[in-house]
Amino acid sequence: MSKFPKLVALGLLASFAATTALADKYDLGRKATPEEVAAWNIDIRPDGQGLPEGRGTVEQGEEIWADQCASCHGDFGEAVDRWPVIAGGFDTLASDDPIKTVGSYWPYLSTVWDYVNRAMPFTEARSLEPDQVYALTAYIMSINDLVDSDFELSHENFAEQKLPNESGFFDDDRLSSPIFDKSEPCMSNCKPKAEVVMRARILDVTPDDETDN
Ligand code: HEC
Repeated sequence: MSKFPKLVALGLLASFAATTALADKYDLGRKATPEEVAAWNIDIRPDGQGLPEGRGTVEQGEEIWADQCASCHGDFGEAVDRWPVIAGGFDTLASDDPIKTVGSYWPYLSTVWDYVNRAMPFTEARSLEPDQVYALTAYIMSINDLVDSDFELSHENFAEQKLPNESGFFDDDRLSSPIFDKSEPCMSNCKPKAEVVMRARILDVTPDDETDN
């Protein structure tokens, strides 16, 4: 996984600090109140940092799912019509038709909790209580065969849960990789000579211009 999220987090912190400093220095606007900062600061980290206290079982999640999620995502996450698939797709990532689901692709369970809490159900985002989000996350784990049907997810056992594709993500190493090393830049004959083999107009890929007719 790239370092981008870390940079965004640093940027956000820096801009909070900068906003506060600007408010003081130029008497512009006002400082965000702790309540306003708390309302924005709802992200959940992979180690569970940011999670509210709460718990929910697979069984409870199944009920909420049937009520509020299955109409789009299917009873078992198989999806209705072209809504997103939530379960299955294991061993398809390297195929011509990869099916990226929470079970086959997502690296961290915290993203599931955070995403559902922020964005679902699609037409009523931010309507779920923390216990409901725990229960739905537990249900999503169960339809991906990651836990048994009597499982309960809580803020206490959250950090122990792992998704199968976590190791499929790794730090973006392009800046340190030798093929991107620019310490001795090439100054001459760096690229093979390009040869024009056909003109686009002759290949007939350019739409006719009316003035040509
Ligand atoms: C009206 C249809 C609809 C309903 C109902 C709905 N969703 Fe979704 N869901 C979507 C759409 C559309 C997306 C993709 C949104 C996007 O990519 O911006 C999505 C994405 C998701 C994803 C991420 C899938 C992925 O791999 O990217 C999860 C997890 C999810 N929904 C869970 C839920 C849960 C839990 C509920 C019930 C509380 C729910 N959804 C209810 C339409 C729906």
